[in-house]
Amino acid sequence: MSEKLRIHGGMRLEGEVAVSGGKNAALAVIPAALLADSPSIIENLPDINDVHVLMDIIRWLGADVEFRDNVMRIDPRPVDKFNPPYDLACKMRASYYLAPVLLGIFQRAQVPLPGGCFIGARPIDQTLKAMRTLGASVDTLGGVLEASVEELIGGDIFLDMPSVGATVNSMLTAVSASGTTCIHNAAKEPHIVDLANFLSSMGAWVKGAGTDVIRIRGGRHLHGANYTIIPDQIETGTLMIAAAATGGDVTITGAIPTHMEALSAKLLEMGVHVQTEDDWIRVRSNGVFRAVNVKTQGYPGYPTDLQQPLSALLTIANGTSIVTETIFENRFRFLDELRKMGANVRVIESSAIISGVDKLVGARVSATDLRAGAAMIIAALMADGVSEIGGVEYILRGYERIDEKLMQLGAKVERIRQEELTRA
Ligand code: EPZ
Repeated sequence: MSEKLRIHGGMRLEGEVAVSGGKNAALAVIPAALLADSPSIIENLPDINDVHVLMDIIRWLGADVEFRDNVMRIDPRPVDKFNPPYDLACKMRASYYLAPVLLGIFQRAQVPLPGGCFIGARPIDQTLKAMRTLGASVDTLGGVLEASVEELIGGDIFLDMPSVGATVNSMLTAVSASGTTCIHNAAKEPHIVDLANFLSSMGAWVKGAGTDVIRIRGGRHLHGANYTIIPDQIETGTLMIAAAATGGDVTITGAIPTHMEALSAKLLEMGVHVQTEDDWIRVRSNGVFRAVNVKTQGYPGYPTDLQQPLSALLTIANGTSIVTETIFENRFRFLDELRKMGANVRVIESSAIISGVDKLVGARVSATDLRAGAAMIIAALMADGVSEIGGVEYILRGYERIDEKLMQLGAKVERIRQEELTRA
């Protein structure tokens, strides 16, 4: 059933909110737990659709899984299948992380590929190259990643770009390969480090995560582990931007300030007050912003997943901002929706030129992808009047209880289900 969010703009966000566990950390750590020969307990998992889809898939493979109060217990011992079904795997892009795991367990894997999405083609050539480098035969005929191998042997993987997904898949393959694997030009995102820490807690030998060379001595016996994943960097950033956008005063607890440095620096440049301590970040703003230029990069650069939410805020900054998207080739589609609210933006090649306007006006808009949905929420929170955002299912994939969290901070947000919409 399709749902909308109805947001009454103009309310200042104030108070304290706790950030949930990291979506992209969860999607890498859960598949890794299948490599153990005993159960794992993973804490601080966000209760979001993507995690539920991944749980359904590993249950289908045979794992015993319980998920309650953000804690998941996974017993991988009953897993006896290597070919998750299309109708489950296609719901969530990261399901292809299961391919190296199932290859390590069964020496073969057949995992349907979800293909591209609104933000780009999202090829997986680097993942295929990594698995082949370690000895696997791999192809993707018919949209299914089919891999097989006699024995995985460690080697040197050279990634053409610091791909997050390819780094995850290289790590998940290398822990099952005998000998040493070096992953060169690795992604350095916080959830890469989180995956390395989880693998190490299972008994793996992983060094260098967070740098551009990760070394793994594979083929070791892996046991279950108790682990708590990191807070969600992108949810933290989205809440920081929402606080600034409404001229609010919000403290985000359970965060890791060092993960947020690129955004914090940008907000400070815009005239926003950002205060950090060991596990909280306070954002205060008077609602007046300087225009800034932003260029998305891999971590520790400015994250592409926070490009859309910040672009929404820049629509009311004083002056003209230039936002350059270097990671995905089609991540400006949401600007069409912002134009409906009065934004003055145009796109030239990989840059959006955003000329600040006095205010946005509430409108009926839709989310075309997860972070576009976050951008629509930011815009609606600061617009004059009421907005309705369609495509809530995208937003709920990656933000746990985002409507409740915003209401807790003083926003006026309602979730409208389809039958109510037809009466409206
Ligand atoms: C991960 O996607 C995240 N998803 C994305 O978050 C995030 O935007 C992205 O990393 C960058 O940080 C998960 O972690 C589940 P990439 P991923 O491989 O792994 C090109 C969200 O909103 N590329 O680092 O797909 C690719 O086309 C999502 O939470 C190749 O050409 O990102 C893209 O242009 C959206 N060949 C660039 O590299 C490859 O084999 C970066 O992609 C792999 C990637």
